This record gives sequence, C-alpha cells and structure tokens, in this order.
Amino acid sequence: MEATGKEEISVEDEAVDKNIFKDCSKIAFYRRQKQQLSRRSMYQASLDSATTGKDSTKFQIINETTKVPLVAEVYGIEGNIFRLKINEETPLKPRYEVPDVLTSKPSTVRLISCAGDADSLVLADGKGDLKCHITANPFKIDLVSEEEVVMSINSLGQLYFEHLQIPLKQRATKENKEDTSVDTSQEDQEDLGLWEEKFGKFVDVKVNGPASIGLDFSLHGFEHLYGIPQHAESHQLKNTSDGDAYRLYNLDVYGYKIHDKMGIYGSVPYLLAHKPGRTLGIFWLNASETLVEINTEPAVKYTLTQMGPAAAKQKVRCRTDVHWMSESGIIDVFLLTGPTPSDVFGQYSYLTGTQAMPPLFSLGYHQCRWNYEDEQDVKAVDAGFDEHDIPYDVMWLDIEHTEGKRYFTWDKKRFPNPRRMQELLRSKNRKLVVISDPHIKIDPDYSVYVKAKEQGFFVRNHEGGDFEGVCWPGLSSYLDFTNPKVREWYSGLFTFSAYQGSTDILYIWNDMNEPSVFRGPELTMQKNAIHHGNWEHRELHNIYGFYQQMATAEGLIQRSKGKERPFVLTRSFFAGSQKYGAVWTGDNTAEWSYLKISIPMLLTLSITGISFCGADVGGFIGNPEAELLVRWYQAGAYQPFFRGHATMNTKRREPWLFGEENTQLIREAIRQRYALLPYWYSLFYRAHVAAQPVMRPLWIEFPEELDTFGVEDEYMLGSALLVHPVTEPKASTVDVFLPGSNEVWYDSKTFALWEGARTVKFPVALDTIPVFQRGGSIVPIKTTLGKSTGCMTDSPYGLRVALSTKDSAMGEFYLDDGHSFQYLHQKQFLHRKFSFLSGVLINSCADKRGHYPSKCVVEQIFVLGLKKQPSSVTTRSSDGKDEPVAFTYCAQMSTLHLEKLSLNIGADWEVHIR
Ligand code: NOJ
Repeated sequence: MEATGKEEISVEDEAVDKNIFKDCSKIAFYRRQKQQLSRRSMYQASLDSATTGKDSTKFQIINETTKVPLVAEVYGIEGNIFRLKINEETPLKPRYEVPDVLTSKPSTVRLISCAGDADSLVLADGKGDLKCHITANPFKIDLVSEEEVVMSINSLGQLYFEHLQIPLKQRATKENKEDTSVDTSQEDQEDLGLWEEKFGKFVDVKVNGPASIGLDFSLHGFEHLYGIPQHAESHQLKNTSDGDAYRLYNLDVYGYKIHDKMGIYGSVPYLLAHKPGRTLGIFWLNASETLVEINTEPAVKYTLTQMGPAAAKQKVRCRTDVHWMSESGIIDVFLLTGPTPSDVFGQYSYLTGTQAMPPLFSLGYHQCRWNYEDEQDVKAVDAGFDEHDIPYDVMWLDIEHTEGKRYFTWDKKRFPNPRRMQELLRSKNRKLVVISDPHIKIDPDYSVYVKAKEQGFFVRNHEGGDFEGVCWPGLSSYLDFTNPKVREWYSGLFTFSAYQGSTDILYIWNDMNEPSVFRGPELTMQKNAIHHGNWEHRELHNIYGFYQQMATAEGLIQRSKGKERPFVLTRSFFAGSQKYGAVWTGDNTAEWSYLKISIPMLLTLSITGISFCGADVGGFIGNPEAELLVRWYQAGAYQPFFRGHATMNTKRREPWLFGEENTQLIREAIRQRYALLPYWYSLFYRAHVAAQPVMRPLWIEFPEELDTFGVEDEYMLGSALLVHPVTEPKASTVDVFLPGSNEVWYDSKTFALWEGARTVKFPVALDTIPVFQRGGSIVPIKTTLGKSTGCMTDSPYGLRVALSTKDSAMGEFYLDDGHSFQYLHQKQFLHRKFSFLSGVLINSCADKRGHYPSKCVVEQIFVLGLKKQPSSVTTRSSDGKDEPVAFTYCAQMSTLHLEKLSLNIGADWEVHIR
C-alpha cells in the first residue's frame, strides 16, 4: 500500500519517541571509541622525518598497537588560524574530505620551524607570537600564544583513527587474521558494530567497515564554551560527563525535547571557547555523524609546559576538555586563535563565508501556516493585515499548494491562477514563499521525476537502484544534491519558464532536507545509500541539506540573470549555510518553555555564522493561549527571522483572532519591528561584510565581564540594543541584567535611564517588551510605517541618540535598493556614520566607495541623556549654512526632541546643540 503523508502525521503527533532516535549508547562508533580509549592506545609522532613544504609541515604518526601509519599535516593559515589534518598514509581507498564548505582554498602562511629534535618540534607563524609545539612521544600538540599554552591537542590521548580494512569475509589469509587493530571475535563484532550495526528493525551494513576518528582538545583556563548547533539546549555548552554527548546528526524531530543533546535538523561542527582576554574557535570539518563531549575541570594547580620565562610558574587554572568523535572521514580541524570574539568571527567567516545579504523584504514579518488553503484564503488573510493595519511582507504556502506534493506544481483546484494571486501580493509590495522539498514523488507522469530519473540524478541504494523512501507524497526518490550536475539542473527548475505560475516575487522554503525519510532509521536515509562519486550517505549526511539550499539560492539568482538576491529558508544546514539564506528551528511547540529556549538556540546559531535565524512564532505544534502568542510576537519581533507558523489541525491564529486587545498588542510588536528596520538592515550589512552576528550573546559585547558569560534570557541586537523578552506567563516583573560598570541604559519606551552593572526588577505589563538602548549608541529608525517594507522606501527616518556617561554616541546606517546585487557590483549603496560629541551630531560618509541617491530625510531626532536644557539648536548643511531648529526639552527625563527636520539621510550635515 502506498503511504500517504497523513498516516505519518498521526505517528508524528505523539511526543518525541525516544525509541525512534538513538542515544549515545546505541551508537557503535561511540562505544568502540570509549572502549578502546579506556585501554589508552598511544600514538607516537616521527618528528625527525618531518618535512616542511610550501603550505604545510608533514610528519608521520604511528599507533603503537596497530603500527598503521597516519600522516599529520599542520598548516598556518592567514589571520591566525592553524589547520591540522590527519589521514591514513595509505588508506585502502580514499577517505571522504568535505568539499564545498570552505569558500576558497585558504591562503597559507609558511610556518617556520624554530626548534626541534626527534622528541619535539616547534613551528611558528611569521610573526612568532603563535607557536605550535609538537611532542613526539606520546604525540601531542600545544598551541602557544604569547608564551602561554592556550590549547593542547591529544594531551588526553584520545586520538583515535580506525584505518580502513579488507572486509572480514575476504580476510582469509593468515597475515590479515593477525591484524591486531580490531578485535574480530564474533561476539564483539555485534556489539562493536564494525561491519554491521543494528538499531531496532534496521541493519546498517557497512561495506567499508569501521572508519571512525576522534581527537581531544584541552582548553587551558577556559570554562565557557558555546556553539555546535543544533540542539534544543542552553547557550553555554554543558558538561557531558554524566550523560549523553552532544550529537551532530541532522534529524527530523517533530516537537523535539528541550534541554536535550540529541541531534536535530542541522549541524555546525564548530565551537567557541571564551575567557577574559581570549576567545578561541575549533572548527571540525567533518560531515558524518559526530559526537562532542565536554568536560570542565575546575581550577587546579597547573604547571605550564616548559616554555618561555613563565616556565616554572604554577598557576591555578581551570580547563575544559573537548572530545570530538566522527563516524568516518578524516581529521580536518581548524584552530581559530582569536584573540577577541570578533577576531574569531572573522577567522571562521574567512573559512566558510559570511551571512548572505538578505533582501530587505525578508526582514519584515512573514505569515505562514500549514496550510493556507486556497487562493481565496490567501486573499482573505492578506486583506486581514490591511484591515487591521498590521504591516507584513510575505505570504507562505506549505506543501498542500502543490498537485499531490509534486513540488514546482500547483493544485489546480485550490490555486487555479497563481500568477493572479502573486499580482495581488505584488500590488502591495508583498512577496510569496512556497515550499520545495528534496524528495520527489515517484510518478511516471511527473516531469521533474521523469527527468531526474532519466539522468540518474537520484541518490542510489546500496544495490545500485534509485533510493526510495516515504515522505509527504508517498514513495519518493531523493535528489542527489551533492552532485554538481544535479544542483545545476535543480537550479534551472526555478527559471520562470520551467516553473509555471511562478513570478519574480516568489521565493523558496526548503524543508525535510535532513533528509527526512518517514520509514527510515531515525526517520532519515540509510547510511549505506550511495551518492555521486560513490560516496556512502554516512560520509556526508550532515551536509545534504546545505547542498539543497545552495542549489535553490543559485536557482533564484539565475532566474534573475544574476541580478536579484535570493531568499531561501532551510530547515537543515551545515557550516557555511549562512551564505545561502536563512534557517529556522523547526517543529517547536506552543509552550512557554519553547519560547524561552528559542533565545539560546538562536544565539548559538548566530555565533556560529548563521545570523539569519528564527523560530516559529506561536509555536508550530499545538494552540498557544493568547498571552503566549502575544509574548511570542513580542520576542519574534526582536529575532532575526520573524515568521508566524502553525501546523495543520491547529486553530487559526492570524494576529486579529484573539480579540481587539491582543490584536493591538501584536500590531504594536510588529510595528516596532518595522520601525527598527533601518537598524536591522544595517546590522545585516555588518554581518555580511564583517561577520559580526546580528543577535549577540552579552559575552560578545562584554567579553571581560564574567557575569555576562552565562546569560541567555537576554541578548544584544548589534551593539546598541539589549532585549529581554518576557517568556513567563502572567509576569509582572522581569529581572533584567544591565551589564557594564561604565554603561548607562535607556528604556526604549519611556527613555528612563538605568546605570549598568546591576540587575533591575523591571516592571512589565502585557504591552511591555523590555528593550534598552545602550548609552553611546545611535539607532536609525523609520518614523512612518507602511503596509510592507516595499511601501516604506521613501518614508522618513528618525535617529535615537543615547548618550554615554561621557555624553557621546556613535552609530551607523546602511542603505541600498534592498533587492539587487548592485550594492556589490556597482557600489550602489549608502553607508553613513553618525557621531555625537560635545553637543554636535555629525552625519558623515562611512564608505566613500558607495553611492546611492536617496530622497529620504531624517525628520526626527531624539537625544536621550542630555542633562542640560539647550539654549539653541541649529542644523548646518555641507555648504556651511546654519538654520535654527525648534526643540522640546524634558528636564525630568533629560530628553531632547527635534521634529519636522528635513535633513537628507545621505548628505553631510551637523546638528549643533548649545
Ligand atoms: C515540517 C516543517 O518543519 C513544517 O514547518 C512544515 O509545515 C511541515 N513540514 C509541512 O511541510
């Protein structure tokens, strides 16, 4: 019987069934590594035979038991990055090395060998402040910065490398039997899952046998680690010594459990460690199933290794050990040495790219539901926003818009005239996003299927036929996006001629791309399915969704002949996905705890490069009560990707369905989002050009303040706004931590001033969104809002100048056409700098390369924290002409308000306050 999607939904409707998904004890390579490591095998490096080439220094490492030689290569990479690769010297066949993630071949810097003998080797970068101290026996690497060991590799002896072997059946000869590297007794075989691994009714047959790898990193003086999304967990990584490791394995987990380390939709195998004075990053470039153990040792007396003047000193330092384990591939790890958080962001983006510059509309509000039923429904919902005077930018259509879940088609009854529907949206400057999943319905009458089949574009099963699995359309095959030819062909499906009924306001949502396979092991693809180049799915599982988003984004660019920026939302992702669009946190639940966990989940994505991220507003599963929905809109308005979404069988929950009072609260939250769009857009520009996250944990902005390191119920948007969403029901106060002993903060609604370095019991009503502007910042806003971002192009600006304790402030502003690549190719952009010092506000050019004429004016300026009533306020244009300005000063709140100004946003001018 052919399965329908519906059957699966009822299965999914249950809470997460832990029997469907593995915990660590059910993962064979984890058990093997743990067992072997308890016996402590040792590796020795042959440093006397080390060779230094143009790019790297190479030497051999040998496992004293197996005697199988490995080759280690150490690279120095531009910008204070080290790379360590370890592979077998002569593997039976090539091992998978992750392609397409690094933006280009990283430029190497020649490492100089400054000391060395058979026992040790010291490599230094040109400047000599970073050194790699390699010890031969047992093999260990210390990373030394300014004479201090900041990281040690393999100091715990957890280097683990399963060399490829001839399958057991073929190992009839005596010499092979004598291979001591693995225990081959039948009993152990089963338990260790060397050639076969069972999980429930599934058997994973491994043609290549065991191939797992592992390595430990000790971070000296560090006890705060972050990163390795995606988990429904706290921002700061937890000790795993008394439970499961963090698992990186992309899985479709409906209603995922929170405070859990199981793998969900995406994986970024990259973590950051932070302490006052230094931030480090470890980027483990491996796309197979990966586990990460974290163990923090409290401060103990610690003797520094023998180097430099600090040699004999004893120091009390804590230490965190990180143990990475992957099922296959090679060891390829990048060590990002900071020293500041923003240096680490720069280093990581140098390797994997920065956040794509989003089209402006995508920073507006998105309205989604599984499903908007038909064209009439879309029309009515769209009109509802106008009737209730709520701005929104994008209407979304889920899987039911298609003809039987055949992507790139339309259900003719429900959507008889998709172009007409899009023209309606276009008339209000709005857009449409439709879903396109990676599974393709097996149907000889479906042209996408037929063409892909003809060309051999599907993932194959281990017997050589097309892989078949069940998803929404029933039996389906899965496009092999790892093949560049498949990507090219798939990209072509988005051209207007190929995609009937699509127009240039239609954008794309990639879902189910872990990939989700309903009856597969852990609801995903069998690991022995075969991809392009004959690679097993196990090698590259975590990068499958990355490739679909890459091909989709490319398709949208191509359909515009290279002119327009794409917008693609993906559920599954990998390191580098930021280059292709946005990510959301999948199937969350309409409960307060999911609203709360959205903050740390998004902070973690943000610091691992993925700035454009969000969580389904309202919670996907279940029916939020009005208060939760309102609080979720208030939180979502201050998170980068802002979309309301709900599963089928939930009650309708468009913003106006909960009574006038709640409509007003939601309207106000969305309006705050739209007012702040100039600031959001400027922040995305910073993320795009300089890899600075849009949503920032406090520790990034206050890297020397220990008190900020564990904060995850509030965060900074850029460096100017602190947001503390209300995530508890019936709250009358929230405890807002305002960092910085020299800082002042202004309540963004009342303008009341608070001093930093304190926790404030902040009173909240239902209409309160606790947002504070940092003294010393200038935030650009829109003073008049419209139906959508596109309707606000010409509307005027305001500046919110919040003075620091030194009565100064700074800010910036970025503007371009909001949709094309002209900002890049023709430098059609405006980048302005605002500064306030000694009573003078100056608007000047921040980047002379850019030109973008704008008629828009700054019509309103608020100065917060101005202690003295001015006697006069004048504006001075670039030709030196002074004009008096009417002003209102409020002595009680120390605010100055200038209105009815007409200062061109792109021109040089000054405002003098005397
Ligand atoms: C799962 C996605 O997470 C959800 O957002 C979507 O509505 C359903 N698939 C149906 O496409």
